Amino acid sequence: MIAQLHVSPTSFINDLRELHRQYLPLRQGKIYVSEPDLVEINPDWFGICVVTVDGQVYTVGDWEQPFLIQSISKVFAYGLALSDWGRDYVLSRVDVEPTGDAYNSLIKVEENSKRPYNPMVNTGAIAITNLIEGKGPAHRLNRLLDMYRRYVGHRVFVDTPTLVSEQTAGDRNWAIAYLLRNFGMISGGIKQTLDLYLQQCSVIINCHDLAVMGATLANNGVNPMTGEQAIHSPYVKDLLSVMFTCGMYDFAGEWVYKVGFPAKSGVGGGIIGVVPGVMGIAVFSPPLDKRGNSIRGIKVCEELSRRFGLHIFEQTASKNLDKPTHK
Ligand code: DON
Repeated sequence: MIAQLHVSPTSFINDLRELHRQYLPLRQGKIYVSEPDLVEINPDWFGICVVTVDGQVYTVGDWEQPFLIQSISKVFAYGLALSDWGRDYVLSRVDVEPTGDAYNSLIKVEENSKRPYNPMVNTGAIAITNLIEGKGPAHRLNRLLDMYRRYVGHRVFVDTPTLVSEQTAGDRNWAIAYLLRNFGMISGGIKQTLDLYLQQCSVIINCHDLAVMGATLANNGVNPMTGEQAIHSPYVKDLLSVMFTCGMYDFAGEWVYKVGFPAKSGVGGGIIGVVPGVMGIAVFSPPLDKRGNSIRGIKVCEELSRRFGLHIFEQTASKNLDKPTHK
């Protein structure tokens, strides 16, 4: 039973299976690779996983297939920067205003403060990574990986071939980092910051890991599988707020309107969704729309929200999966 939704496990898993069947034939979109022939990615990989705040796990399709976390990492790196520096200082470095721009749009900072607009676009994300504390590059990376471990429940690793190819192909990110330093919004070596940013993006996870990360945010920062506090609870709402308003880039407004729970996408094909107090949702399917969001991922989240009344502004009374009135 998912108590908050009044739904039985059998009925819920059947719904997930139905969505998987419904959207598998949707063969559109482009796959992201930083370098041709680096890896073989099957456009039909399609996994869904839901983890509830009391630790129930629902999996469908290719939920065990490893993929790159990519931009979904920006949410978690933001949490680490908040833990290191506190809300006021972090806000003085990176604002929380949606841009409506593409994730890698070239530098756009506030006129007077020179702050990047938000931590979900690359400009803000690179400035945030620059804030991650540590005695040197290895220590900073270890802190980042340990942060992921708390959310996921086991150690995760950087995919070296991806990292190397992203380092070579990342002219736009280099340009962003140089301009940020010019504005005084990052300090220290550009290469060190970019390396750490690309390392945080090149971590390998699967749908189950991502859903546990979502469930941890849904559960006030406590990993429901391990009981470990992954992030100081008061910062969870900061992460969810920027996910809600900026997590889907130039699709963020439509996402909030149609789906209505905080989410973040990555060009690896993953989408993480958080229904606060209820569950984390992860969908993985590599083909992306022109904004870099997983096409099947969006469909699954839209449909889950519609069927189960998951929009956060929808009245709790309608969150009743036993009443198939939404179908
Ligand atoms: O910064 C980049 O170019 C990538 N490594 C991450 C991009 C990403 O996932 C954007 N999200 N949709």
